[in-house]
Amino acid sequence: MHEILEGIIGIIKEGGKILLSASSLHAKGIAKGGHANFVTEYDSKIQSFLIEKLSILLPEANFIGEENGLSSFMEKDRKGYAFVIDPIDGTNNFMKGYEPSVISIGLFRDGIPFIGVIYNPFQDQVYYALRGHGAYLNGIRIHSSLDPLESSLVSVGTAPYLPELHPKMFDLCALYLSHGMDLRRSGSAAMDLCMLASGKTGLFFEPVLGLWDFAAGAVICEEAGCIITDLDGNPLTYDSSSSILCVSEGVSRGRYLPDDLRKA
Ligand code: IPD
Ligand code: CA
Ligand code: CA
Repeated sequence: MHEILEGIIGIIKEGGKILLSASSLHAKGIAKGGHANFVTEYDSKIQSFLIEKLSILLPEANFIGEENGLSSFMEKDRKGYAFVIDPIDGTNNFMKGYEPSVISIGLFRDGIPFIGVIYNPFQDQVYYALRGHGAYLNGIRIHSSLDPLESSLVSVGTAPYLPELHPKMFDLCALYLSHGMDLRRSGSAAMDLCMLASGKTGLFFEPVLGLWDFAAGAVICEEAGCIITDLDGNPLTYDSSSSILCVSEGVSRGRYLPDDLRKA
């Protein structure tokens, strides 16, 4: 499996060149439905490139991708291998020239992600993990923070495309702002998970994310000592969209679930 991991890293870096070659200011978004939810020609171009190259690397694998009608999880994806791809995570950042925007690739075996690779081409940073073998940034082992919640930064995903979730999201922001050090919002959920895995933040939450947003980051975070669940503390099922709550090793040693903090 190490060769497959190396292969994915090579391919994701090539995909990163397509992202860097784009003049984001000329990347016009086409509305996809929902509030401010766009796809650019680069999302489609990068996804097609990744599928072409990854099919050569692992011909038996299925694909789940955010774009071009590949976004639903089928029964066949539960068996054997499936790549779960977000060709640009942070499309709105990309359209505005506001970094980061990253590429995220998860590889599932029998319905569970076991390889995660996330590439931020703007800083040439590749975060990756193979389940059971630790998490890495550009070849250097990373680990989540040991700090407790009160001295940790909390990053929030705003669920921007679903206005009906915004009141809940702002309630959670208030809760975690009062229990943590401060809030951050990057515009890329995959990057938020990498910040957690590499010890910069202590907790990340978002009221809903697609499988492609969190699949790769979940493996990287777990291999860095984090705990990832939904916002009620239930284990992830990895077969559809979900709310996400991910905490560092240090934060996981105390209370951090919304219901527990409200009672405290
Ligand atoms: C989005 C980003 C954002 C998160 C949204 C995601 P996209 O992905 O990860 O940070 O708040 O929920 O959908 O649309 O840029 O691939
Ligand atoms: Ca995404
Ligand atoms: Ca995307």
